[in-house]
Amino acid sequence: MSKLWGGRFTKKTDQLVEDYTASITFDKELAEEDIQGSLAHVAMLGKQGIVPQEDVDTIKNGLNRVLDKIKRGELEFSISDEDIHMNIEKTLIDDIGPVGGKLHTGRSRNDQVATDMHLYLRKRVVEFVELLHKLQGALIGQAKANLDTIVPGYTHLQRAQPILFAHHLMAYVSMFGRDAERLQDSYKRIDMLPLGAGALAGTTFPIDRHFVASQLNFGRVYENSLDAVSDRDFILEFLSHASIIMMHLSRLSEELILWSSTEFRFVELDDAFCTGSSIMPQKKNPDVPELVRGKTGRVYGNLMGLLTVLKSLPLAYNKDMQEDKEGMFDTVRTLQGALQLFAPMIATMKVNKAQMREAVNKDFSNATDIADFLVGKGLPFRQAHEVIGKTVLYCIQQNKYLLDLTLDEYKQFSELFDEQIYEVLQPESVVNARNVYGGTATPQVTEAIARAEAELERSAAWVTAYAEKSK
Ligand code: ARG
Repeated sequence: MSKLWGGRFTKKTDQLVEDYTASITFDKELAEEDIQGSLAHVAMLGKQGIVPQEDVDTIKNGLNRVLDKIKRGELEFSISDEDIHMNIEKTLIDDIGPVGGKLHTGRSRNDQVATDMHLYLRKRVVEFVELLHKLQGALIGQAKANLDTIVPGYTHLQRAQPILFAHHLMAYVSMFGRDAERLQDSYKRIDMLPLGAGALAGTTFPIDRHFVASQLNFGRVYENSLDAVSDRDFILEFLSHASIIMMHLSRLSEELILWSSTEFRFVELDDAFCTGSSIMPQKKNPDVPELVRGKTGRVYGNLMGLLTVLKSLPLAYNKDMQEDKEGMFDTVRTLQGALQLFAPMIATMKVNKAQMREAVNKDFSNATDIADFLVGKGLPFRQAHEVIGKTVLYCIQQNKYLLDLTLDEYKQFSELFDEQIYEVLQPESVVNARNVYGGTATPQVTEAIARAEAELERSAAWVTAYAEKSK
C-alpha cells in the first residue's frame, strides 16, 4: 500500500529508513488518545461546516470501530504506516473509504501528536497522585502502629537522638505529599490544547479551537501555534517530578535495606516481597527496594535524555521530538511498578520494636538531653556540652551507658547533677521533651498524623474530580 504522504515521491522508502524512523512500535500506546483527539477534531469540522455532517458521522462511526478493534487487540499495526496517527488513519480509510481522508483537514501530525501526549499524561498524572496516596496511607498505617516505638534517629548514619519510629515514617509521608502537590501543580500546564496549531502556523480553515478544547475538557488552548507544536516542557516537568519521587523512594529503599540487615534487624519485609539466593539457602534478599534504588538511575536518565533532545532544537517541529516518547513511557512504567509495590510492602512490613529499643538503650543518643539539663541548672550550653562530652568519654572507657553511671560518678563531672537526671535520660522523656510543632514528642506526632490524614482526604477529592475531567 502507498504512503499517506506518497504523492511527492517517485521511489519506495528504503527499508532501513522505514525501520529506523517508524515510531509505531512504541507510540501505539497512544492509540486511544489519538482517537479521542480525532473524534473531537472531526466533531468541530462538522460544527464549523468544514466537513458535511453526514461525513462526520461516517468518520465518527469508523473511528469508534477502530477503537473497538484496538481494545480487542485485533488491530495489526504496520511499520510502513510509520506511526500511530497514520496507522489509525489508514485503517479508517480502509474501512469507510475515501471519506476517511477528510479527517485530517486543518490538522497536522505535529499538533496531533502533541495533543495525544497531553491527553495521555493528564490521565497518568492523576493516577500517580492516587498511587502516592496509597503509599502515604500505608506509611501512616505503620506510623499509627508505632506511636510507642522508639528508635535511634541518625545524622551521618551515627546515632544522634532517639525519635519515634512513627516520626521517621511521617517524614516520608511529607515527602510524598510534596510529590503529589508537585504533580497537581503541573496539571494546569498539561491541561492545554495544542490542536489547531497545524504544522506550525495555524490553518486556513475556519476551525474553532476552543470548541475542541471544551470537547476534550482542556482548561486552556495554546496561545502560539509554534509553541503549541514545539513545547515538551510538560513532559520534562513530569520526568523531573518522577525523578524526585524515585529519589525519595530510593532513600526509603536504602533505609529498608539497611534496616533489614542482620546488623540492624529493625524491620522484616514480608516473604511475598523478598526473594532468595540460588546458592545460599539462608538468604532473604530485599530485591524490591534494591531494584527501585537501581531503577532511579534510568528515570534520571530519561529526564537527561529529553533535556538533551530539546537542547538547541530550532522551532518548530523536528523529527528529534519523536524521541520524547520512549523515555516517558519507560518512566511511567517504572514509577507505576515502584509505587504499586511499595504500598503493600510497607503495609506488611514487620517492625522489630524490641530490637529498636535495644539499639536505643545501647547508645548515647540521650546525651543532648543531659546537656540541656545542665543548661536548665544555669550552665552555659557550651560548657554543658564539654562536661557531657567528658562524661560520654568516661562511659566509653568504662564500657557503660549514661543510665549506668551512679550519681557520685556524675558529680565528678559537675556538682549540678542530681537524681532527676535518671528520669531525664529515659528514652520516653528524651522523645517527649521535643514537644515543638513538627517535633518527635508523641502529642506532636499524633497531631501530625491527623493533619496528614486530613490532607490525604482533600487530595483524594482532587483525584476524584480530576480523574473524571481527564477521562
Ligand atoms: N511520529 C511522530 C512523532 O512522534 C509524529 C509527528 C510526525 N510529524 C512529522 N512532521 N513527521 O513525533
